[in-house]
Amino acid sequence: MEVESIKSKIENIISLETSLKEKLQGICDVLETEISHYDWVGFYFKNGDKNELKLAQYTGEETEHTIIPFGKGICGQVALSNKNFVVQDVSEQENYISCGWKVKSEIVVPIFVNEKNIGQIDIDSHTANIFNSDDEELLEFICRKVAEIL
Ligand code: SME
Repeated sequence: MEVESIKSKIENIISLETSLKEKLQGICDVLETEISHYDWVGFYFKNGDKNELKLAQYTGEETEHTIIPFGKGICGQVALSNKNFVVQDVSEQENYISCGWKVKSEIVVPIFVNEKNIGQIDIDSHTANIFNSDDEELLEFICRKVAEIL
């Protein structure tokens, strides 16, 4: 994975004179296209003052999980833990919300604005044991960049 080249594509998307929605969609599209093990890429954000996440922009198969209560699934756990969550084999997770039988692994990285966890980027892969520290570094970089435009 060409981390530096993907980072510069993300910086370019963020610098364009487009809406926030277009930028978030562009980031999802670039990640899904450029990184072969990224099969679903999406952003969830805290839904107003409710303790739940709401799906924003995404690339990949449509999901019925557009609202996720805090604490539920991998995403809901990250909303509470404020930490990256790398799941190398989703079949070993009890607190997991399935988005289809093809998904084998998942990574969720939180987005902080003024030190508050306000959302996250969520990636599903059809390959187990595929995520490593390069993914975490890239996704943390993207979350910091997204935080600057929220
Ligand atoms: N698998 C997630 C649900 C969201 S989908 O991956 C799009 C979870 O367990 O929170």
